[in-house]
Amino acid sequence: IVDYGGANAAKPLHVGHLRSAIIGESIKRMGRFLGHKVIGDVHLGDWGLQMGLIITELKKRSPELVYFDDSFEGDYPEEAPFTVSELEEIYPAASAKSKEDEAYKNEALEATLQLQQGKRGYRALWNHIMKVSVEDLKKNYSKLHVDFDLWMGESDADRYIPDMVDYLKKNNYAYVDQGALVVDVKEESDTKEIPPCMILKSDGASLYNTTDLATIVQREEDYHPDEIIYVVDKRQELHFVQVFRCAKKAKMVEEKTALSFVGFGTMNGKDGKPFKTREGGVMRLERLIAEINDEMYKKIVENRSVKDENAQKTAEMVGLAAIKYGDLSNQASKDYIFDVERFTSFEGNTGPYILYTIVRIKSILEKYMQEGKNPNEGTILEAVNDSEKNLMLELSKFNSVIAPAFEEKAPHKICSYIYDLANAFNSFYHETKILSESNEEQKKSWIRLLVLCRDVLETCIDLLGFEAPERM
Ligand code: ARG
Repeated sequence: IVDYGGANAAKPLHVGHLRSAIIGESIKRMGRFLGHKVIGDVHLGDWGLQMGLIITELKKRSPELVYFDDSFEGDYPEEAPFTVSELEEIYPAASAKSKEDEAYKNEALEATLQLQQGKRGYRALWNHIMKVSVEDLKKNYSKLHVDFDLWMGESDADRYIPDMVDYLKKNNYAYVDQGALVVDVKEESDTKEIPPCMILKSDGASLYNTTDLATIVQREEDYHPDEIIYVVDKRQELHFVQVFRCAKKAKMVEEKTALSFVGFGTMNGKDGKPFKTREGGVMRLERLIAEINDEMYKKIVENRSVKDENAQKTAEMVGLAAIKYGDLSNQASKDYIFDVERFTSFEGNTGPYILYTIVRIKSILEKYMQEGKNPNEGTILEAVNDSEKNLMLELSKFNSVIAPAFEEKAPHKICSYIYDLANAFNSFYHETKILSESNEEQKKSWIRLLVLCRDVLETCIDLLGFEAPERM
């Protein structure tokens, strides 16, 4: 199971969630390519304080809504009392108020608790919030070519909590410390202090640890996976150390079950600080994608190789490659600088450069086919010069790159491989007159080599989660 995406319902997707989606999608695709059965789960944040905040704010604005009438016993309306844009405005407003107003915050905490305890009207509102925001999230993830098998969330773990708590208590894994229920997870070899894993707060409320542990219980029951891979901001590492240790210690998973944390670094702006809009606000994902696409569109139109009606679509394809390659070509755990200009460049170690190389190969193959010939005939002959030999050697590395890239959950290894491969191809291309070659056997051999090169490059970019246009 790959646990990635991790968007929070009712909050707009921002660039912080971009990395999890991009890296997780790639790891999932690599695993599948190697023959594993891989399930991608978005694991939505759908159970926390943000829900209580929205409910509280709605109540202030429209106290007359039937959801707030405790004596109401009928069916609640099917239509949500808000649109997605209203929802996106409500959350930040509520969150700001709760930071200034203690009473407001307490109301929101109380609403969160009541929701979790099953209060009917709040449950109905929660269903509306979920429906509206999941619809919007699906739209955004699909623009990124990120696709989940499961749309589960923290709330789905809730029903596993009571039994899990009983089990932890009964088997003496958990004990009460200052009112809270905790499990010790420190180990002798620790060089820094690993605090106990808190299962329940003193007021009985569950925490992020609790939902993550209960989700392990649920995944064990439903899938009994060999491995669960979590693709989450590296600042959450301690949380996962605690959760993993607790799950192993309490035998909630087998000893051999791998629990892996792929912690990623922060995406920074050119100033080296977390990415912001020009006005200094939180950068929304939609806006970031639009900015990249505009930049790509300009470049593609300048090139004039694509007719106008296709230019927009091509810009989107190349734009996605620019974003994904820009991210994936860095080691996941490192912070990186999101540089629109560099990422959209057709030269250097970029997504557009890789696509440009693929498109170049495709156009040679197309011309060859226009001569009425089949590019899949003939055998590859011995290399005639160093650049051809180098290209062959690069191509032969494919298997020895993909398997370890998955083992190490390191998509950047695929990026650096295809960058070397694209360079090897381009050197070969500049030294070799392929289509005007008079020796037919030689020409066929080179064409076959090109087909192989295109296939390897296209397979690799598919593993990274993007694709190449026919022309650009
Ligand atoms: N919703 C969380 C966040 O925005 C990420 C969830 C990561 N996955 C997990 N199983 N905890 O920080």
